[in-house]
Amino acid sequence: MKTENGVQTAGFSGRKQSLIEDARRERSSGSAGSPGPSRYGDSFVFDEKDGRVTLNVLFSLSNEKNAGFFKTGKIFETFEAKLLHIESRPARKPKNSTTDLELFMKCEVHSSDLDAFINSLKRVMDDVRSIPEEKVPWFPQQIKDLNRCNMLITKFDPDMDQVHPGYSDSEYRKRRAFICELASAYKQGDPLPIVEYTAEEVFTWREVYRQLRSIYPGLACRQFMDGLQQLEKECGYGEDRIPQLREVSAFLKEKTGFQLRPVAGLLSARDFLTSLAFRVFQCTQYIRHSSAPMHSPEPDCCHELLGHIPMLADKEFAQFSQEIGLASLGASDEDIQKLSTLYWFTVEFGLCKQNGTVKAYGAGLLSSYGELVYALSNEPEYKPFNPEETAVQSYQDQTYQPVYFVSESFEDAKTKMRRYSASIKRPFAVRYDPFTCSVEVLDQPGKIQNALSQMREELKTLHSALETFSSS
Ligand SMILES: [Fe+2]
Repeated sequence: MKTENGVQTAGFSGRKQSLIEDARRERSSGSAGSPGPSRYGDSFVFDEKDGRVTLNVLFSLSNEKNAGFFKTGKIFETFEAKLLHIESRPARKPKNSTTDLELFMKCEVHSSDLDAFINSLKRVMDDVRSIPEEKVPWFPQQIKDLNRCNMLITKFDPDMDQVHPGYSDSEYRKRRAFICELASAYKQGDPLPIVEYTAEEVFTWREVYRQLRSIYPGLACRQFMDGLQQLEKECGYGEDRIPQLREVSAFLKEKTGFQLRPVAGLLSARDFLTSLAFRVFQCTQYIRHSSAPMHSPEPDCCHELLGHIPMLADKEFAQFSQEIGLASLGASDEDIQKLSTLYWFTVEFGLCKQNGTVKAYGAGLLSSYGELVYALSNEPEYKPFNPEETAVQSYQDQTYQPVYFVSESFEDAKTKMRRYSASIKRPFAVRYDPFTCSVEVLDQPGKIQNALSQMREELKTLHSALETFSSS
């Protein structure tokens, strides 16, 4: 247990500290994306295979050198180079005329001829240079692809973390490993595993539930309270039993289309955010150690079921969560780090205004007695939620946050997040298709036209409905 300024951190649940840290590590090591290009001399080369290499070449073409372009054909013939792709655009910095062009070619050539090939092009064209290919990290496009999004961060496991309350309890570690194996074996579409919780585990749940439930009414936001009350009424929430993921998932599916998926521990930032794009929330199923019911260094079912689930029953919040997920697909490691930080200060530790007072909606707060009380006291610093500023805010993973971001409302947070997501540079847009539970990559005009046609049809339906009401 660590303290700062005399404040006890017993309630700190630590759910997502490594979400940001892990994203930073991935970024610095470059491990999350596809392998980058290798270099041959001054040339960027991709996909070396059978003695041939693929490279991207950019050059400019002025009116005076039109003939040079046609000479490139001879160069290709001489070096047995294969043209894979070509496109042109007006030159960004025309030298002689506004009609200058830039041409981009993707081509394949013998490795041994690479330098001579480039030098030959330079003799007939201007500004010949090879450029690195912008590689987009792989991301799932179908919900079943989430089976591949299972990279775990194990440093907070009781097997690895010496300060974990269960570190010296071999029976606890065995039990946790058993529940994690159920999650590891899970494939999308399988029935969610049922865990028969022991009396000791239910006792731990009861301690957590009672303490938190008693302070929710004054500190939790309206959407959280609405969700929790529905769960208590319709889904068996209460202090006497730990809800099963299977029944909670069915409940959420009806309310907001979110569904649960069991996970064997803390996921990598990219994999965790990716699942949100499909309205899938990855949930741990084991419970914290009984010796420390108010503290867990890693996510556990108390954090998921109490902190996250009631909020995911709210339609606006579900939409907000999915938008963070969609923004993460194919994003650079740098952008994943920023999105993880945004996730941290909103979904985990977010505050919002309601009826003139500040309330909690972040799961890290709503599953942590100590920090929930602290965050809503007059001690911490508040800042208005602004994604550009929030995304680079330093965070605290050893004690309470030094600053909390307050949204004017969920709608306000969602609008700002949407604007921020649009600013993330990707060579495509994505659109979720709820009918097929898949992500459509909009990277060609035809696909965008199709999407627009579908939207027009939906708008017609709404327009027709509006006319019906107007004329009645
Ligand atoms: Fe969490």
